[in-house]
Amino acid sequence: MRTPSVGRHQEIARLRAAVLAAGSGAGRFVLVSGPAGIGKSWLTDRAAELAAEAGMRSTRGNAVDDVGMPPLWPWRRAARSLPELTAALNTVTEPGRGAAERQFRMFTEVADALTAAAAPTGLLLILEDLHWADPTSLALLGHVAAHTDRAQLLIVATAREPAGETLLAYEPDWLRLAHTQLISVGPLSEQDVRYWLECHGLRTDYAARVHARTDGNPLLVRLVIESDPAQSDDPLVAVPGFRRLVLTQLDRLSAEDVDILGAASMLGERIDVDVLTAVVTTVGDPPQRGTPGETSARTEHRGSPAEDGRGGARTVGRAAAC
Ligand SMILES: Nc1ncnc2c1ncn2[C@@H]1O[C@H](COP(=O)(O)OP(=O)(O)O)[C@@H](O)[C@H]1O
Ligand SMILES: [Mg+2]
Repeated sequence: MRTPSVGRHQEIARLRAAVLAAGSGAGRFVLVSGPAGIGKSWLTDRAAELAAEAGMRSTRGNAVDDVGMPPLWPWRRAARSLPELTAALNTVTEPGRGAAERQFRMFTEVADALTAAAAPTGLLLILEDLHWADPTSLALLGHVAAHTDRAQLLIVATAREPAGETLLAYEPDWLRLAHTQLISVGPLSEQDVRYWLECHGLRTDYAARVHARTDGNPLLVRLVIESDPAQSDDPLVAVPGFRRLVLTQLDRLSAEDVDILGAASMLGERIDVDVLTAVVTTVGDPPQRGTPGETSARTEHRGSPAEDGRGGARTVGRAAAC
């Protein structure tokens, strides 16, 4: 089932403007943030398309949720198609220099290499999932971002909200830059969901229900649409892929965290920490880690789910040209 392009006109317009500015030598740094599944990576794909249309080349790297991830991993992934970036990341300094001085030298080499690689047609560097990035990657990003304003370089980074601790520690540096733009990605509108249903020839009177149950999260909307939203009063219940997403995440949690989530799940979608603490305290220890927001953030799905192979969408008419 082909997924149509839904909404996000403002975000795409801002990315287009950033591509054009970077192409003309006024580089930009764009941080795209939002919850899991909201469409951050989808927007980076649109940025890559816009860059290609403008004759810019592009490369991408991403951080991963793995304790084994080596330092500078997102940069090393991005360097696979930019040998000059690999060379700069491997900068060797004369022995006897201090660690801070060696790092500064490497950062400068990377900034210079990217500026050179961006000329004359422009370069888009996409760095994804920075909430999992190591501190050196973020420090390097801060250094490079500070030098993009006179390069034909556009950096588009993505991070989940609420952003990770390390990312927040570096965010103020990025925010200070005049050529930094923040795109905070919110839910799709009900009208967007209606359009999506229409594109698949599904009944558009499900739009309000699908929108309400998915909170306008495109990943969830897609899962609902790929199942059959007419099957159940609650569109999410009819989505086998959604159940698997939740179970996969629960497998990663400790027994204590699963207990806390179990209690939280009885309290509805907006969870009051005092009530949750009171509930959990009566049956065991109080929650030790984080706020309810953090608790629910850890239940979020990561990346695209595996397809469940079902194609149960009920066609009620000819799909709109999407
Ligand atoms: N505006 C959109 N139109 C159509 N599909 C979208 C849109 N935004 C996201 N999607 C789809 O929703 C899913 C989740 O999006 P993704 O970009 O992976 O989320 P994130 O990177 O924020 O976790 C993907 O399958 C993606 O193709
Ligand atoms: Mg993503």
